[in-house]
Amino acid sequence: VVSPPTKSTNSRAKLILLGDAYVGKTSLILRYVHNTFSPHTLATVGSAYISKTLPQKPPLTLDIWDTAGQERFRGMNMGLYYRGSKGGVIVYDVTSRSSFNKAKIWLKELRDAVGVPENVDVEEPGYVRNGIVLALAGNKRDLVEGKGAGGIRGEDLKLEKGAEGVPKREVTEEEAKQWSSEEGLLFFETSAKDDNDEGVKNLFEEIIFWI
Ligand code: GTP
Ligand code: MG
Repeated sequence: VVSPPTKSTNSRAKLILLGDAYVGKTSLILRYVHNTFSPHTLATVGSAYISKTLPQKPPLTLDIWDTAGQERFRGMNMGLYYRGSKGGVIVYDVTSRSSFNKAKIWLKELRDAVGVPENVDVEEPGYVRNGIVLALAGNKRDLVEGKGAGGIRGEDLKLEKGAEGVPKREVTEEEAKQWSSEEGLLFFETSAKDDNDEGVKNLFEEIIFWI
């Protein structure tokens, strides 16, 4: 006889990150789960997850799924991985206009797979739509705050460079906030690199709050 789950049961929630190659999905997860950063990450192949158990009552275990941004490293049917997600984070890079433009496509892909209708009225930020909490993260904000150079991976995936070879901001916070509120997404700018960055912590904590 299997006893029914009780309130004290350790519950699990699946959280998925998606977005273009090189925007920092893996780095955000490593910062949040292990509080580490590497300038030499490898491109994610397929998808994988890391679990983190939160010391709350009842305990909640997050299974954080990382996915490949590069088309050639994506599986045939990534939608299968998205299913059952309680939270989804679409990541772009604040120094890459194209990664922000692509966020729309990633969002649609996630909504289609999870079955979240578009154009649902959003009553408040962080509104839980059909059981999934959606967030947008504008990563690499350290690059536009004069806190040093970025990652060094990706000879074929160059960042846009400003006049002095310093990456420049290509997406304003206002624009991203505006789009997020239209779509009912939580929004944070983040830096996986900066170990004092509050954005990464706030991003995950806010999602957990709504889950
Ligand atoms: P795919 O797995 O190919 O989809 O890429 P990804 O989105 O997982 O990117 P990843 O985390 O591998 O990061 C790509 C590069 O950007 C690496 O060189 C990282 O060190 C660097 N990077 C990631 N986040 C940040 C950040 O917040 N600031 C800076 N300066 N560099 C970052
Ligand atoms: Mg990755």
